[in-house]
Amino acid sequence: MHELHPDCQSMLLSEERIRERVTEVARRVNADLAGKRPIAVGILKGSIIFYADFIRCLDMPLELDFMAVSSYGSGSTSSGKLRIKKDLDSNISGRDVIVIEDIIDSGFTLACLKKLLLERGASSVTIVTLLDKHERRTEDIAPDYNCFEIPDEFVVGYGLDYDEKYRSLPYIGILKRSVYEK
Ligand code: PRP
Repeated sequence: MHELHPDCQSMLLSEERIRERVTEVARRVNADLAGKRPIAVGILKGSIIFYADFIRCLDMPLELDFMAVSSYGSGSTSSGKLRIKKDLDSNISGRDVIVIEDIIDSGFTLACLKKLLLERGASSVTIVTLLDKHERRTEDIAPDYNCFEIPDEFVVGYGLDYDEKYRSLPYIGILKRSVYEK
């Protein structure tokens, strides 16, 4: 068991808990998407560790691709913008797409992304997220699969950062307020 990083006030999700739940959710996706040949789209950077663990639990033929986006959400619908920092390599027209995210917060990023992928002709867009901060949602969007609903705390680790730090921690911890309020 990893020692808790001194900048974390507590551990929210242990490596073992994450592993169990990721396997469980992947089992459902395997059953629901059986017979498909989807493109698994990881949203950089936060999703990388979840992505790597999750796709290894999928037992269907997969193609891998990635996007990096940043959103300037307004908090309310439509007036925010999605900036594409790295686009897909694949043509997704007529393809089933699985979007793999680390966290859904306001929902702005995923709402824009889903719209964009459907406009590009994807036959289906399935959203899988590791974490859902449901109480922060402002957009009318829900993940198709969510591993954990979490409280509105600053979480880091397992891909998630604060100021590009802590992404490689193998668990998800709650960051001490003193770290981001100084
Ligand atoms: C996070 C996360 C989502 C987005 C969710 O990315 O990966 O893409 O924020 O927020 P929303 O639901 O309010 O739109 P972030 O911008 O932190 O980038 P990163 O993954 O590179 O850390």
